[in-house]
Amino acid sequence: MAAASDCGTVSDDTLFELRYARSHDDLWSMLERLYGAHPDFETFRVALDDSLREAWRERPADLKLLDLRRDLEPDWFQRPGMTGYALYIDRFADNLKGVAERLDYLKSLGVTYVHFMPCLKPRPGDSDGGYSVMDYRAINPAYGTMADFEAVTAACRARGISVCVDFVINHTAKEHAWAEKARAGDPAYRDYYLMFEDHDLPGRYEKTLLEVFPDNAPGNFTWYADFERWVWTTFNEHQWDLNWANPQIFLEMTRVMLFLANRGVEILRLDAVAFIWKRMGTRCQSEPECHMLLQALRAACRIVAPAVIHLEEAIVSPAEMLPYLGRGEHDGKEGNLAYHNSLMVQFWSALAARDTQLMTHVLGTHFPPTLTNATYATYLRCHDDIGWAVTDEDAAAVGLNGPMHRTFLSDFYEGDFPGSFAKGEPFQFNPETGDKRISGTCASLAGLEKAEAGADPTAIARAIDRILMGHALIASYGGIPLVYMGDEIALLNDYGYHSVPDHAHDSRWLHRPRMDWDRVARAEAGTDAAAGQVLAGLRRIFARRAAVPELHAGNATEVLQTGNAALFVFARRAPTGSVVCVFNFTETWTAIPASWAVQQGARNLRDMLSDAPVGDAGGVIPLPPYARLWMR
Ligand code: GLC
Repeated sequence: MAAASDCGTVSDDTLFELRYARSHDDLWSMLERLYGAHPDFETFRVALDDSLREAWRERPADLKLLDLRRDLEPDWFQRPGMTGYALYIDRFADNLKGVAERLDYLKSLGVTYVHFMPCLKPRPGDSDGGYSVMDYRAINPAYGTMADFEAVTAACRARGISVCVDFVINHTAKEHAWAEKARAGDPAYRDYYLMFEDHDLPGRYEKTLLEVFPDNAPGNFTWYADFERWVWTTFNEHQWDLNWANPQIFLEMTRVMLFLANRGVEILRLDAVAFIWKRMGTRCQSEPECHMLLQALRAACRIVAPAVIHLEEAIVSPAEMLPYLGRGEHDGKEGNLAYHNSLMVQFWSALAARDTQLMTHVLGTHFPPTLTNATYATYLRCHDDIGWAVTDEDAAAVGLNGPMHRTFLSDFYEGDFPGSFAKGEPFQFNPETGDKRISGTCASLAGLEKAEAGADPTAIARAIDRILMGHALIASYGGIPLVYMGDEIALLNDYGYHSVPDHAHDSRWLHRPRMDWDRVARAEAGTDAAAGQVLAGLRRIFARRAAVPELHAGNATEVLQTGNAALFVFARRAPTGSVVCVFNFTETWTAIPASWAVQQGARNLRDMLSDAPVGDAGGVIPLPPYARLWMR
């Protein structure tokens, strides 16, 4: 192979100019609309242009080679071989060096994408799980150094694993150098944030704003007596919202983005993107300017570091989420990935209700069969709570009452509802809206904690089946399935957080237990039956997924109507034929006519997950409790 960045007669500079030409309009058409009227626009233009060129000059040769590879294989992240895993560095393996020693384990699960949960230098004390960043150019010293980070990303790359890190763009910690200067009175830095001398404007904004953390961080503004300003703080008091209407923020954050890309990051998880643009009289969420900014960030990345893709975190309703994957004028130009929050919510909703009608309606109605240059991050659990994002309209469409269904789900997963198999804790109860979110690990919410406490073998088997069915669902629906650390060994809730002063106020720590390597050893040795079945099951699911080309995320996902409320069924439509995926969301046996499955495109009545026949063409396909079938 030729030297890393030497493409025969095509020089590095030529490559850069070609890519700049490719994305020039995607970038500048947005920036002109956003900032063209700003008095400093010309200075900004020159500074941004310089920054892009400088970042390219600094981009390491091996990453430039990866850029080329990705230019040639733009669907790399949509391929069925992709499987993600999200981990806390300290809770998984103490520090970055420890993570490097655990790559074989990740590989054994089929992982090709690893999300290091917030790992940049956080503020001291409570840092919202690391989402209160003090320095975007330094690694959390508890995890190691930037050199350690680069070593781990290189080791991952060598193993075919892409590293994802959080790019927290809505706010910085109040201890960030910019915030310190703003606090000290520097007017340029005061304009980095949203600061007000009196409560007039904050009061007017508050009228239409929502509450993200109503329990422990009520209100969206904080008064600081020392410098006599109200500061916009959507999340916690220590997280100061950035003023993206100031082009200087775009410049600074683009530099940070490219700095991280040049350290070997391949997936940037853009945090809390819905909140970055403020407009009086609105919720200040998902304003059109958010999408313009996100397209511009994406374009800057494609110019300098095309190997890198963007995952946009917007945990909102379906109609509001889809634009983060590029709709309308942004089609193919915005996020490459976005969390499929609806799939996650509908999974838990259908499990509790033992009824898939709402799920089939929501997933069949609101989502297009394919996306341009983008796909979903599919998941069952993550480090955050579950908010019951079911609209009243969707509930009504299947004869449910929205508020009552949402209350049912909270009660069910808290464990209070009669007959509930789940065990969780509430997160941020909002008495004004009745909204109650839920914390808990996948296994505890799926019933394993209660079943093990009751030493009930049938209940244990059901819980394991729910976990496996859920993972078979996210592995086949279309997108990159993300396993959340510990779910592969069915880790239970960690109640220890109640006695950690910085965590006790935040029940999300319930589902952030330390990785239990003894449990992994027992799972592998067969001495912990539940953990062993889940681990072996997940390994199998992701290995099978990698072997089914129809599951490529570029192929359409068509949700099918069965008329059977126990079942959620979809077909993946590939040019070579279909794969029909069937899931039984109840603990009772049911069946589908084999002829129906054949009509929907199942050519071979064999389950590709278990590699076993499922019935004959003339009869029925029997479906045991929590059955999951993938039929080609
Ligand atoms: C995102 C993170 C969440 C964090 C919030 C504020 O939603 O997932 O954990 O609290 O952003 O940064």
